[in-house]
Amino acid sequence: MFEKLNEQPADKILELMQLYKDDPREQKIDLGVGVYKNAEGVTPVMRAIKAAEHQVWETQTTKAYTGLAGDPAYADAMIGLILADAVARETVAAVATPGGTGACRQAFELIRMANPDAKIHVSDPTWPNHLSILKHLKMEAVPYRYFDDATRGVDFEGMIADLRKAKAGDVVLLHGCCHNPTGANLNLTQWQEVVDLLNDRGLIPMIDIAYQGFGDGLDEDAAATRLVASSVPECLIAASCSKNFGIYRERTGLLMAIAQDTDLHKINQGNLAYLNRQNYSFPPDHGARLVSTILNDDALRADWAEELEQVRLSMLGLREQLAAELQRLSGSDRFGFIAQHRGMFSRIGASPEEVQRLRKEHGIYMVGDSRMNIAGLNRDTVPILAKAIVDVGI
Ligand code: LMR
Repeated sequence: MFEKLNEQPADKILELMQLYKDDPREQKIDLGVGVYKNAEGVTPVMRAIKAAEHQVWETQTTKAYTGLAGDPAYADAMIGLILADAVARETVAAVATPGGTGACRQAFELIRMANPDAKIHVSDPTWPNHLSILKHLKMEAVPYRYFDDATRGVDFEGMIADLRKAKAGDVVLLHGCCHNPTGANLNLTQWQEVVDLLNDRGLIPMIDIAYQGFGDGLDEDAAATRLVASSVPECLIAASCSKNFGIYRERTGLLMAIAQDTDLHKINQGNLAYLNRQNYSFPPDHGARLVSTILNDDALRADWAEELEQVRLSMLGLREQLAAELQRLSGSDRFGFIAQHRGMFSRIGASPEEVQRLRKEHGIYMVGDSRMNIAGLNRDTVPILAKAIVDVGI
């Protein structure tokens, strides 16, 4: 049987992690996978997470199964964090999932169950695993223009023109904030235009929000998601706690299916629970319990928000330092976009050959499409990267 299997292509982001590890050079910089690192190059366990783990360890009396949807306290806390009071709670069906990837996977399967003909319109580019999962599920992904190679900002006209061609009932996958891989984002006026288009054309939004708190702040980063959720009849939201709670390996995500028609709530909730049962039964609980412990405790929540804000500000500081250093070395403003982008990533617009040269000649690892993880830098490595970028002639 196994001889019939084909070799699978390596995931480009995860492959890069291994290449970096295998590089014996002392001077090397990892700007690959989207993991936050502090100035010492460490991905720390957040203070509030440690405290919540302590609490759970002391008070938890059982590891018996939770429900198929996970712990309801987790869903409630996350719905509050992401949506605040943008929609009525009874419109939101929600289940815990293994990470944001699990939420995306379940969302795609739900779409396929509800409407096997639906196409999924994805930004060009998008997170490569969106495309990989859709391909695996034999669902059609249709790219819409998103990134303007010349300005390194959003090609908004192109985006709107492409989405106008989508058929009623199709799904539009949008990044709620901190677009991965480009770092280029819509402003709220543009989001409103997208909402109008979705409603005009009868398109269903699916929002992937994996970096809330990494861009402009917790509420600011959720503003677009809240606007969409409160303005359309139906939407899906796939959320991740990996980055903003720093609990990557705990696999903590949430999928929401929101319908203004509350008669649909029961059927949506039932279908989400059914999908969990088919794929893994009960979703992981440990990370979810840490998140709800933090969000439901004023002191822990404040401490978490403060630490997250420090993370956000440190990434913004690195963006500004890099843009300034590049301006100094290149004598041009063409890298100003790095300070305008938000979140963990920026696509710098280098060719695959230039990305290879950065790796070979300078030990700098970024994804082949020239996405770099800003959080992989520190004050001392920014000048090294800036010099390498200019040397390579980007
Ligand atoms: C990334 O884009 O680097 C992260 O979301 C990690 C991953 O799973 O790819």
